[in-house]
Amino acid sequence: MSTNGSDFIVVANRLPVDLERMEDGTQRWKHSPGGLVTALEPFLRSRSGAWVGWPGVADAEVEAFEEEGLRLHPVGLSAAEVRDYYEGFSNGTLWPLYHDVVAPPVFDRAWWESYVKVNRRFADACASIAAKGATVWVQDYQLQLVPQLLREQRPDLRIGFFLHIPFPPVELFMQLPWRTEIIRGLLGADLVGFHRPGGAQNFLWLARRLVGLEPSRGAVGVRTRPGVVQVGDRTVRVGAFPISIDAAGLDAIARSRETQARAKQIREELGNPKRIMLGVDRLDYTKGIDVRLHALHELLAEERITAEDTVMVQLATPSRERVEHYKQMRGEIEQVVGRINGEFSRVGHPAVHYLHQSVDRRELCAFMSAADVMIVTPVRDGMNLVCKEYVACRYDLGGALVLSEFAGAASELTSAFLVNPHDLDGVKNSLYAALTVDPAEGRRRMRALRRQVLTHDVDRWARSFLEALGTAAPN
Ligand code: ADP
Ligand code: F6P
Repeated sequence: MSTNGSDFIVVANRLPVDLERMEDGTQRWKHSPGGLVTALEPFLRSRSGAWVGWPGVADAEVEAFEEEGLRLHPVGLSAAEVRDYYEGFSNGTLWPLYHDVVAPPVFDRAWWESYVKVNRRFADACASIAAKGATVWVQDYQLQLVPQLLREQRPDLRIGFFLHIPFPPVELFMQLPWRTEIIRGLLGADLVGFHRPGGAQNFLWLARRLVGLEPSRGAVGVRTRPGVVQVGDRTVRVGAFPISIDAAGLDAIARSRETQARAKQIREELGNPKRIMLGVDRLDYTKGIDVRLHALHELLAEERITAEDTVMVQLATPSRERVEHYKQMRGEIEQVVGRINGEFSRVGHPAVHYLHQSVDRRELCAFMSAADVMIVTPVRDGMNLVCKEYVACRYDLGGALVLSEFAGAASELTSAFLVNPHDLDGVKNSLYAALTVDPAEGRRRMRALRRQVLTHDVDRWARSFLEALGTAAPN
């Protein structure tokens, strides 16, 4: 145990920055992908905290370092661990299992062993840097054993756990050969948090069924009325805390003259179409990028819209590129993009602009400011931050949001054009309705969406979680 260690520690699979090895042998740090980092980084940077995580490449030996007020503690992974713990158990087993089995999960014993070993390494790293009585906030599905492993070494710590992805229906979770170990791992925390009350209820049911505990039976509320379960002499709370974004920060970027000028320029670069549709996602099979492309294809084929009038932009961050389902999906998406462009584009005017790239925050805001319709159509998503980011950027009350009912955010953003991504006709009709919405109706919807997003930002999320954990947010 460290005598003058950190009082507040976030531990996540990834650090907020990824190490990038350049071809000339030099290295640099770049921003890590994904919603977890987007949400937690601004919160933690504005306070003095420590972050324990993997630097994003195999076999990197990096010492702890300070970056803009944040103490970063790298945990190394070997190439075999990246394959078995990260690509394997985390993203080939848990990710599809927790996302409604939209792809078949693989149950591989060697992957599980690697998951246990790596979780122990993360727990050891936290145990060695945490000050006495410190708060450790464990993040996401890659580290579900850490709460228990850490508690065994450091019973003095206050331990919170938050799951950033959906927690599955119990019938699906029960497929997992290591289901009891995962539930026991999570029960090592003082507070286990999910986005939605349904996830919390599922977890409580599993604690009864798999561990033989007697959890509370009342309904779990959003940020209120957590479930309670007694584990020996400890009380574990189980609650719902819908995550959010730095809404005021994005609103300010969107309002700036530079962003508005860039938004105008983007429209010109796209050939000044009447309507711009935008998709922004990690290139992941849960995000339903194919769904929106099929809808666009049919709308064009039926001549309800034309490629002269309506242009689509899809920004897709490269993600988990060595995992089989991701490789396959990338091929399929690129084929559909090619087909749409082949049939409907004119020279110099593609119907779909597809960028397999990450853009920086300001550029993202400019795209969102330029987009008349934002399309977010995951087949399952824990929360989805992209839809909230779009709303935060639309201070002008312009634009329309088409949002899947299967994103956690749908229960908060009820004034969006909500769609069932499995119903192609429904998606097409909603997309068309969003493209042609009466401006007054569009403003009414956007005003309601903004009221929700601006009053429920990431700071409120973090505070409500830490209050329920019984610890104050760090200063
Ligand atoms: P997930 O955590 O599954 O990736 P979220 O929607 O919760 O999904 O968060 C994704 C985050 O990554 C958002 O902050 C979004 O703006 C960002 N992002 C996704 N794609 C891109 C891209 N192509 N360029 C820049 N940022 C992106
Ligand atoms: O919650 C979604 C999540 O898996 C995060 O844990 C992660 O930071 C993000 O998506 C990006 O995924 P990856 O770290 O596998 O690139």
